[in-house]
Amino acid sequence: MQRPEPINEEIPLDNTRYIESETDTKGIITNVNDYFCEISGYSRDELIGQPHNIVRHPDMPKIAFKLVWDRIQNGKNINAAIKNLAKDGRYYWVFTHFEIIRDINTKEITGYRAYRKAVSKHAKEVLDKLYKKLVEIEKEGGMEASEAYLNRVLHEAGEDVTFDNLLEEIYRLY
Ligand SMILES: Cc1cc2nc3c(=O)[nH]c(=O)nc-3n(C[C@H](O)[C@H](O)[C@H](O)COP(=O)(O)O)c2cc1C
Repeated sequence: MQRPEPINEEIPLDNTRYIESETDTKGIITNVNDYFCEISGYSRDELIGQPHNIVRHPDMPKIAFKLVWDRIQNGKNINAAIKNLAKDGRYYWVFTHFEIIRDINTKEITGYRAYRKAVSKHAKEVLDKLYKKLVEIEKEGGMEASEAYLNRVLHEAGEDVTFDNLLEEIYRLY
């Protein structure tokens, strides 16, 4: 499928609704809710069976997804702020909570689930700046360099600040 050309226009989100999806262990979409389809602009049929990077926005730093995958593959939940790309090229920012799906008998990881909610205007401004910087650093020095920069920013923001609780901290700190 051809990637949409990004346009600098935001899709407003209803902050009372969740955008939900499930994937297998490889990140292939296995289920989405109606609101996911409504906001992304893709039909359920266009989404199911596709890699979840179908909504990846070029403004997202790779390190963000590396941190997510490292955590969930180890069976741990994580939160992340993500800028997504809709089918028509517009974008939408989401606070995303990732969870593990396990087989009820064997307890083995069978997939992952994500719930997404709207992000405040202020947090979006802070994250936009940080992610743009991380993308720039990645272009020059790769993910090792962006991870080092991110760790420095988190450390400077406070001892308990992690990528996982960054959004809460943005609300608290700024
Ligand atoms: C449950 C689940 C939900 C995901 N949701 C998103 C999402 O909303 N947007 C996104 O860009 N990537 C999402 N990802 C991460 C993608 O699988 C992928 O790692 C990311 O888009 C980076 O693309 P790349 O792996 O091609 O570099 C999700 C992964 C999982 C397991």
